[in-house]
Amino acid sequence: MNLKDKVLLPCGKSIKNRICKAAMTERIARADNFANQKHLKLYRTWSEGEIGVLLTGNVQIDRNHLEGPANVCIEENTYKEQLPFLKKWAEEGTRNNTHLWMQVSHAGRQTPGEINTSPKAPSSVPLKIPGKKFGKPKALTPTEIKEIIKKFTFVAKVARESGFTGVQIHSAHGYLLSEFLSPDINLRNDEWGGSIENRTRIHVEIIKSIRQELGSDFPISVKMNSADFQKGGLTPEEAVVAAKIIESAGVDNIEVSGGTYEQPKLLGLDKVSVQPKRSEIRKNSTIAREAYFLKYAEDIKKHTTVPLMVTGGFRTKEGMERAIKSRACEIIGVGRPLCANPFAIKDLLEGKIDHLPSYEKTLSLGPGPLSPSSPFRLIQALNAFGAQAWFYQQIKRMGNNKTPNLKMGLFSAFRRDAREDKEAFRKLKNKTTTHT
Ligand SMILES: Cc1cc2nc3c(=O)[nH]c(=O)nc-3n(C[C@H](O)[C@H](O)[C@H](O)COP(=O)(O)O)c2cc1C
Repeated sequence: MNLKDKVLLPCGKSIKNRICKAAMTERIARADNFANQKHLKLYRTWSEGEIGVLLTGNVQIDRNHLEGPANVCIEENTYKEQLPFLKKWAEEGTRNNTHLWMQVSHAGRQTPGEINTSPKAPSSVPLKIPGKKFGKPKALTPTEIKEIIKKFTFVAKVARESGFTGVQIHSAHGYLLSEFLSPDINLRNDEWGGSIENRTRIHVEIIKSIRQELGSDFPISVKMNSADFQKGGLTPEEAVVAAKIIESAGVDNIEVSGGTYEQPKLLGLDKVSVQPKRSEIRKNSTIAREAYFLKYAEDIKKHTTVPLMVTGGFRTKEGMERAIKSRACEIIGVGRPLCANPFAIKDLLEGKIDHLPSYEKTLSLGPGPLSPSSPFRLIQALNAFGAQAWFYQQIKRMGNNKTPNLKMGLFSAFRRDAREDKEAFRKLKNKTTTHT
């Protein structure tokens, strides 16, 4: 078993190697939320990096439930207008026998307040984040849930029609489908809430509906939390049950991640919790492990046979090979290193490097008390948000045909990104419709 070996998916399609570029929101769509020239440039670059699968950043099914202002969104009444760009995006992202899977999502209660002050969610449980950034959600009606299933199916259909070679249903990190899985967010007492079987029902219905529409030979992946790491949230034990149900519904891959906006463990930020008292503490040995969700994936693996992908923290060739050889997972997901070195995987597979860059380890507002290990929670949070902005800025640079700028400071990235978000929110409000 080797990182260069092919992966055969249950649908019959194969992937050229065992590496996937994890989904990373690009935030480069225009005010009409259409894909554009920047996506083409970005994915052309990544498709030259010897990566088996490129997952897109989250593509939304509903403009009123974006994860961020410049997300791509595909809706029935406008999709024909952006189809030419989607087709070109697929053409660029599938060069060199690369798979390009569209990550399909609905932000649920994590929709920013600038976009929707009253977003839809499984139940009316607000995010416990101070301030007014997120509105109080409204519980979905059963009819609205059926509409959401149709919209996920519609976007998957458009993805295939455009030439994308697979789709991923986003059910991690506290967005809508992840909210359905969480017992502290999904308080429904109808068929969509209660037992873990009921909380996974929407996933099963979406998968069945996509399969029915697109046939048995199209890769469908689901990204899910190994746990919410929040007291009262989805536990690792329930995640195993949910994974078994999702596997039986007929998927080709499950990607294991974890955490939510309240507990941002997806980036390994165990210290940064908006709700420290409600945080489920992970063992230090788990956090210190290179791939911090691997232990949870091993538990899922014991009960499933579908190819698993684990994302979060993989940086060394040795660590990746160990995970593959021990059959803990079949695919390695890699995110942040590819924001600032799109060819890092090529270098790794060709033996030029034996570990990927860990930019997140050196990004800092300043030394000592200004660093991510500052005793002050605010500084810790600023470092975390600043680092995230730094990665967004590098993605945006690549979309703008520029090379990543490794010298970019954390604070200037933070300020620039905040300014751009503000501008994008303003344009979104004005519903500008110019394309680039
Ligand atoms: C800039 C950025 C954007 C992200 N956007 C998404 C996204 O759209 N969908 C998603 O499932 N995860 C998203 N993530 C999480 C990554 O897919 C991945 O789970 C995380 O970065 C951990 O992997 P890494 O340690 O290899 O970076 C994002 C992460 C970053 C850094």
